[in-house]
Formats: sequence, C-alpha cells, structure tokens
Amino acid sequence: MTARILSGREIAESIKEEVRDEIARLYEEHGFRPGLTVVRVGEDPASAVYVGSKVKTSHELGIISEHIHLDADTTHDEVLQIVKKLNSRDDVDGILVQLPLPTHIDDSAILEAIDPAKDVDGFHPMNVGRLNQGVRSLVPCTPAGVIEILKRSNIEIAGKHAVVVGRSNIVGKPMAALLLKENATVTICHSRTADLPSVTRQADILVAAIGRAGFVRGEHIREGATVIDVGINNVSDKEFAAELFSADDLPKRLAAIDNRGFTLVGDVNPKEAMEKAGSFTPVPGGVGLLTVAMLMKNTVDAAKMRRKI
Ligand code: GUN
Repeated sequence: MTARILSGREIAESIKEEVRDEIARLYEEHGFRPGLTVVRVGEDPASAVYVGSKVKTSHELGIISEHIHLDADTTHDEVLQIVKKLNSRDDVDGILVQLPLPTHIDDSAILEAIDPAKDVDGFHPMNVGRLNQGVRSLVPCTPAGVIEILKRSNIEIAGKHAVVVGRSNIVGKPMAALLLKENATVTICHSRTADLPSVTRQADILVAAIGRAGFVRGEHIREGATVIDVGINNVSDKEFAAELFSADDLPKRLAAIDNRGFTLVGDVNPKEAMEKAGSFTPVPGGVGLLTVAMLMKNTVDAAKMRRKI
C-alpha cells in the first residue's frame, strides 16, 4: 500500500484565503486592519527564516505587521520593557516573541508578560489553562494546524486513538489537549516511554513531534494509520539520506545536499511511512505551511476578541 499524501499547501492556501476575506470585511465594516508585532532576539538562522515568512504572509493578507529585531546581547529587562510597551499599544493586536531566546533571557517570564489577549502563540499560562479546560482561547499555531489538516482531509478524530510522540509546550502538550477536545483517546509518549513501538502501533492517528530526523520508522506505525510529521530537521549525511528517501525522491535530496549542504527531513522516515501508513504529511510541504496560516488566523481572532467583534 502507498499512503495518501496530505499536502499542507492547499489547506494553508484555503485558510489564508478565508483570513484575507475576513480582514477585508473588518476593514470595510469596522475601519481597522489587525496588527501583529514579531520580536526576535539574536541571530538564530532558523528563526530568521520563520519570522521572515510570518511578516511576509502578514503583508500579503492585509495585516499590519512589524518586526522588532534586537541584538543578541539585549538584556532580559529590555525585552520585558518592549513587551510591556506592546501590551499598551492599541494598534497591536498580536505579539509574538520568537523562540528560542538567548539563554540569558528567562523565556517563561517573557511569555508570561505578554497580555493573554494578544498572545497569538497561545503560550501564556492563561491560554494554556483555558485550552486544557476546553474553553475558547488563542491556541498554539502548529497543533491547531494539525487539527485543520485532519478535519479538512475528512479524517475522523472522535473515538480514535491518537498517540502524540513528544511533550514540548509548543507542540506535544497542546496537541494532546486539542485532540482530547476533539474527543480522541489520547496517549502522550516521550523519551522515557518503555517499548515505544508497541504504544505507537496502537495509534489510528500518530503525531511525531520529537525533533529527531527520521526517528519514527515502519515498526512504529500501524498498517493504514494517519501519520502526522511535525518535525523539521536538516540532514546532510548522504548515507542517512539513502535510508530515508525512496528511489524517486533520493536524487533531488542528494542534489539539495550538494547545492546547499542539507535537505529537510521530518521526525518520520518518509520511505517507511509511505509503505505502512494510510495517509502521511510530507516534509517540506506538510504541517509547516499550516503554522504560519494559523498565526494569521489567531491574529485576526485576537483582534476581534479584544475589540469585542
Ligand atoms: N519557535 C519555533 N516554533 C515557534 C512558534 O510556534 N512560536 C514561537 N514564538 N517561536 C517558535
């Protein structure tokens, strides 16, 4: 069997189209455009790419976006003061502080300082608590995007066994809470789980959010399961690439390694998932595209909630 590919591209485009229409309506009927400010500290190369994409997509959809880029040696208090200023600005509907922050900055304290009503990442403890209570809140973008992929691909969640591998605050934990809200039976696995394959093989829906290239193999996947790959990793070893990609895919992956030094790989071995899964999200072109689309949606939702629309 060859898995059905769940492309994130069309789904992300439909969501962005809906958000663009809503922004146009808000401008016509209420006379404002939502505002998003992204704060980035230091020179993490992946963060630069992600933030660039968030700002560019905002402009495309009609969100007024601002990028505050601070030196790596900016102090904790300076970042805190910037967040407080953004909290008080009426033209700012969404505040996003890109992670990771340099280690001298206490990231939990920064995230807690963001006004929960402007917390478009959904990382503030108030929004985390609301999500866990099943109350309407701003929800972390990547797990929210996974739910959109499942729903818009007509994959049933209610009553299914969903297994999430990874327990991060950004993906694993909120993913489990959202699947539970959709009435799945949810198991969370992590690095200390005993006999991981025997647990993941029970999954109707398997979400991999571990941060290790190609970690989930055929032996982890039940025949016909839906496999959602949240990982984004760089692979530059050609022998390892040969284990990950099918004969069709391998030449262009090897060419990418030659040309730019790496190819993008998720947390799932794509060759083995394609043979075993019923459906599978590719990397690139899967969940990653949804993260930005959901951030745009959260920004509009935050603007409407704060302005009581
Ligand atoms: N770093 C990696 N993913 C994310 C995200 O979703 N939000 C923020 N703020 N930083 C990240």
